[in-house]
Amino acid sequence: MRRVSTPDDRVVTVGAGANPLVGTLLDAGYHDVAAVDVAPAALDALRADLGDRADLVEYVVGDVRSLVLDRPADVWHDRATFHFLSDPADRARYAERAAAAVRTGGHLVIATFAPDGPTTCSGLSVERHDARSLATAFAGCFELVHTERSIHRTPAGAEQPFTHAVLRRTLR
Ligand SMILES: C[S@@+](CC[C@H](N)C(=O)[O-])C[C@H]1O[C@@H](n2cnc3c(N)ncnc32)[C@H](O)[C@@H]1O
Repeated sequence: MRRVSTPDDRVVTVGAGANPLVGTLLDAGYHDVAAVDVAPAALDALRADLGDRADLVEYVVGDVRSLVLDRPADVWHDRATFHFLSDPADRARYAERAAAAVRTGGHLVIATFAPDGPTTCSGLSVERHDARSLATAFAGCFELVHTERSIHRTPAGAEQPFTHAVLRRTLR
């Protein structure tokens, strides 16, 4: 698919954990990155991983279901957080917060376990998604522009099928 983001974009990654994505974005020249996580320890681990680049990133401790950001985002990224929301009301709250955060024309880049993926993640049960259920979850505010499937192999060798989707924020 065509590139949906440039290094001048403001990227917000929710449920950031200590994923290497933030470091990869800094390597690529991104300079307006916010990492959101409900767990302060997860952001402490990310800071530690980034080392002397830690202060280049904004850290927000908060629940994505009630997240309020001070500036619009060009890209909202989520790998393996939305799938923890098994209550439809929580998914609706998440979609509302993402819609409020992303500027018109901006993008939501999301990855969840696929329908044939694991039923738990980090010991918690998950709601698995295909492209259709992701498009439905964000319908009205975002339109699906791209989807892919991948197989993630864990350090222990287990295979985890993921659904990836890119959705564009439609006119408010
Ligand atoms: C499975 S980890 C994924 C971490 C990272 N995105 C990755 O792909 O490696 C899920 C992360 O989401 C965070 N999280 C779970 N529920 C959340 C919520 N409601 N709001 C914000 N963060 C949440 C957890 O603390 C955890 O760091």
